[in-house]
Amino acid sequence: MHLEDSYGRKIRDLRISVTDRCQFRCFYCLPNGEPPLARKDTILTFEEILRASRVFVRLGIEKIRLTGGEPMLRRDLEKLVKSLSELKSEGLKDIALTTNGFSIPAKAKLLKDSGLDRITISLDSLDPKNFEDITGVDKLGEVLEAIEAAREAGLEPIKANAVIVRGRNEHELADFARFARETGVSMRFIEFMPLDSGHGWKREMVVSGREIRDAIQREFPLELKKDSRGTETAWRYRFADGAPGEIGIIAPVTEMFCGQCSRIRLTADGQIRTCLFSTVEHDLREVIRGADSDEEIEEFIRAVTLTKEASHHINDTDFVQPERTMSFIGG
Ligand code: GTP
Ligand code: 5AD
Ligand code: SF4
Repeated sequence: MHLEDSYGRKIRDLRISVTDRCQFRCFYCLPNGEPPLARKDTILTFEEILRASRVFVRLGIEKIRLTGGEPMLRRDLEKLVKSLSELKSEGLKDIALTTNGFSIPAKAKLLKDSGLDRITISLDSLDPKNFEDITGVDKLGEVLEAIEAAREAGLEPIKANAVIVRGRNEHELADFARFARETGVSMRFIEFMPLDSGHGWKREMVVSGREIRDAIQREFPLELKKDSRGTETAWRYRFADGAPGEIGIIAPVTEMFCGQCSRIRLTADGQIRTCLFSTVEHDLREVIRGADSDEEIEEFIRAVTLTKEASHHINDTDFVQPERTMSFIGG
């Protein structure tokens, strides 16, 4: 079985946002801390998420990534991980988590024991003051601890995400590369996308993937990895001198990768989004709450997948930012 859209793209990655709340205030995501949109009665229960996930896996989903907001704010998240890990006998291959790292030192081992395979942690600066300027919280130390705790728990390969924004952190690129070499993590640099709740995105703020690559190469020559990129978002590079660690470059704005997109998203309140930049959502919650059989859910998912957009339109002159922002969609 597989899930395919109308352009022949196979959909194998499901990204589930489990809450749209977050305790950080990253300027590129949720600067003003808007009130959460998902309410108690609209938020999917773990049982509902599991039921939907089982149908998705039956349809060919191989990877599930839990996101937020900050997913660790959802109480007992490890219980959801545990039940999702039971889908590994039904075709699921990989469960990952994207987090700000805040609760990870306390929970890394439990998450691993519950079946989580790997983790991605946001790390937008290595300078405590700049970290606070970018994220609104003075928590760099905790995030670095989280990376260490994830390693000790075996949640590998560990990926660290930095959204690179002109005038904010592009001067740290070589430091980030050094950090990757010292710690062995995969350090990924992401172009700033117009999905911030403050609507502050401007094209001039985007540091292109090419600029990022050049800045790092000046200090540390890189070699593109052979198995890079497929349906992944990142071009992945190794250090030419053989040092540990990896550099990933995610350039959705200047090197669009929509033609190879394998992703579909489920929001905390049960809406399917067929693209990060969708302007419409599909109410899976209604379907799940009313369905007598899983076949009804399956039919709905198949039909919705056929409406997946060919690509985003960030580079069109008439581009309109979607109403939903990153803290709701989950990256
Ligand atoms: P894995 O391949 O499972 O490791 O996931 P990933 O490489 O997509 O990693 P992650 O979830 O950390 O995504 C990294 C960042 O890439 C996200 O935070 C987004 O900023 C961006 N991104 C992820 N998926 C998409 C996508 O489908 N479209 C666009 N335009 N950007 C994406
Ligand atoms: N542009 C690009 N990436 C973003 N993220 C959040 N907002 C944006 C944006 N506007 C990414 C961050 C974070 C992940 C959840 O989403 O890398 O780690
Ligand atoms: Fe896929 Fe949409 Fe992202 Fe393009 S912008 S890669 S179509 S989710």
